[in-house]
Amino acid sequence: MRTQVAIVGAGPAGLLLAHLLAADGVESIVVESRSEEYVAARIRAGILEQSTVDLLRASGLGDRLDREGDQHHGIYLQWPGERHHLDFVELTGRSVWVYGQTEVQADLAAVAHARGQEIHYEVGDTALHDLDTDRPSVTFTDRSGAAQRIEADVVVGCDGSFGPSRAEVSSAVRRTWEKTYPYSWLGVLAAVAPSTDELIYAWHPDGFAMHSMRSETVSRLYLQVPNDTPIEDWSDDRIWEALATRLGHGQDGWTLTPGPITDKSVLPMRSFVQTPMRHGRLFLAGDAAHIVPPTGAKGLNLAAADVGLLAPALVAMLRKGDHTLADAYSETALRRVWRCTHFSWWMTTMLHTSGDPFEAELQLSQLRWVCSSQAGATGLAENYAGLPIGF
Ligand code: PHB
Repeated sequence: MRTQVAIVGAGPAGLLLAHLLAADGVESIVVESRSEEYVAARIRAGILEQSTVDLLRASGLGDRLDREGDQHHGIYLQWPGERHHLDFVELTGRSVWVYGQTEVQADLAAVAHARGQEIHYEVGDTALHDLDTDRPSVTFTDRSGAAQRIEADVVVGCDGSFGPSRAEVSSAVRRTWEKTYPYSWLGVLAAVAPSTDELIYAWHPDGFAMHSMRSETVSRLYLQVPNDTPIEDWSDDRIWEALATRLGHGQDGWTLTPGPITDKSVLPMRSFVQTPMRHGRLFLAGDAAHIVPPTGAKGLNLAAADVGLLAPALVAMLRKGDHTLADAYSETALRRVWRCTHFSWWMTTMLHTSGDPFEAELQLSQLRWVCSSQAGATGLAENYAGLPIGF
């Protein structure tokens, strides 16, 4: 097979890249180790920031998002006895949308199907070759077990932190940074109307809790739990009890309505960055180059921002022979990556209890400052609602 861009990974980064390239006349082939059903169903992020929504709309992917997505003006931040609303629109003129990654993925899969995008699912033994030359390639075994090769001008790794792409950046230049947090999230989906109009981030001595949502009938909730917590320890009743305590059920007349839990999982919390995001004819985008902890909902947005920079860079390179943007890609993308890495770390460490009483007082002081100072609130709002693409 021969194409212009071989894309490894059919998650949101890979499919959005294929879509943006196709809109500018650049062809691609996508390979994915998982099944189409698995990729479509996995439960991930739920919040789109302003610049992601702008990018999706500008590329013709805004229709269902505008119909079914729920625009939120801000979030609630709380600790025992106090709940404060931060209004991002008032503070920064920007907002966020509740529209799940599964919905974005469904929209991307639908447009890929409509334009006849070549995607190979359930491939094995994916390997990247000749990335230092102008004729890189990707080899794999397809679903039927046959060996395949894609020759391309460029390879893009959108294959997450477990995919083969990121290890291809030469160890002579590769740098990595990693932080594992001493707690995890227990996340549940519940078939019940959200008990709040906008997301609640709650600091509590028992640990962080969050009330998010996916729709008018589906709530998404999280609890801080110790690492390696056996999920069997968390019965539905115990989860709802902990959520009620930490989210402040009964406080100022607010109530949490429990409902049937339809999905339950434990998510580790990790920060990871690998540089550079380019090696020869290989470019990395999304989780292949960086992982953020989920607090602040930056993972999907950062992947979209990478692709929003990379697509025009590849179009200029492959259609006009202009390498300027491609040469600047890694450095430009990493400015935003480090901003989001800091913001996610800051939100995480401000809201999760470590058991250290000194840290707890600092967290509460920080929360009070964010909620009472225009400067503090604006800083959080600017980062949460998202800096413009190209920041
Ligand atoms: C989610 O709805 O899954 C979600 C929302 C906000 C976050 C993290 C996760 O900060």
